Amino acid sequence: MSNQLGIIGYDFIEFYVGSAKMWAYWHAKALGFNITGYSGPETGVKDKTSYFLTLRNLNFVISSAVKPSNVEITSFVQKHGDGVKRWSLKVKDVKKAFETALSNGGVPSGTLKKYEDENGFIEEAAIKLYDDTEIVFINRDSYKGIFRPGFGKPIQKIEITKEPTGLLEVDHIVGNVRTNEMDIWENYFNKTLFFETFLEFGAGDISTKYSALLSKVVRSKEAPIKNPINEPYEGVKKSQIEEYIDEYLGSGIQHIAISTTNIIESIRALRANGVEFLSVPDTYYEALKEKGFKVTENIDDLKKYGILCDTEGKGYLLQLFTKPIGDRPTFFYEIIQRREGAEGFGQGNFQSLFESIERDQQLRGNFDRE
Ligand code: FE2
Repeated sequence: MSNQLGIIGYDFIEFYVGSAKMWAYWHAKALGFNITGYSGPETGVKDKTSYFLTLRNLNFVISSAVKPSNVEITSFVQKHGDGVKRWSLKVKDVKKAFETALSNGGVPSGTLKKYEDENGFIEEAAIKLYDDTEIVFINRDSYKGIFRPGFGKPIQKIEITKEPTGLLEVDHIVGNVRTNEMDIWENYFNKTLFFETFLEFGAGDISTKYSALLSKVVRSKEAPIKNPINEPYEGVKKSQIEEYIDEYLGSGIQHIAISTTNIIESIRALRANGVEFLSVPDTYYEALKEKGFKVTENIDDLKKYGILCDTEGKGYLLQLFTKPIGDRPTFFYEIIQRREGAEGFGQGNFQSLFESIERDQQLRGNFDRE
């Protein structure tokens, strides 16, 4: 049997939320997405409304239940709050990818499905991930309409004033899991999807004197797909991964990193659009100057916009993290620019993110164990 799934890249990411219309508006206004498609009662879908958002290579779907009978969405949102339900891989042959994944231990979520209308057809099938998340195998090459059957043009054309953000594509998707679950999911990715473990942050690598985490990064050997997995590590106080598990009520997606080719311009626009980012102390930039990294960007510009900078293997990484975008301290975005061939995840930036979340965790009163 071939040790490939025929993965081409990320396709869409779907969120289940309380109000899709509000979430779609925020993604359009704050992150610069276009509202490209809509599905709901007006297009023949009775109990669910979905907005299809696009920006360069990004395809997001934001869905909510419009009737209590849609228990799949209402139960997800009631338990986890607003969050990522599924992310998808575009594959050459959905049936082959699904059957190969199942024969290697993938847990199916439903069966292979084909949906068609006058614009053509799509095929998709999903396997389970974490508590209530899915990885979907999809191919939409034979569909000429908007996104997939059931979608049409947006009903309301709303002109949204915003600064263009230059966001390009998904760089990586991160999961938070419970103590001792990281190795189980690492093994699941590597066995089921033929991924490989690419990086590991062990005991003491990412920690403060109060709390810590462990992390492993798995990646596809076929396409630029990277999936870090974090689990809590022992500490005097509650790890931020434990905070996530407590607030999300289980394991799930912590953040999605979106790439840009000009992070200074992207962050300037995102801030102008009202996106809130985690703060970076001024001492970070003094230390950065002392390290003497060779970077093209002006460090004072990085400081002005609060952008993190770290060397990594071949090149360097510029990153910044938003505050949680919903009501619970769970899901957030990362904006990333990889320079000079950097492939990995800088330990220094990861540590800064950890410290920054710890400060906010303390403000939320979720730092001390009950
Ligand atoms: Fe990240």
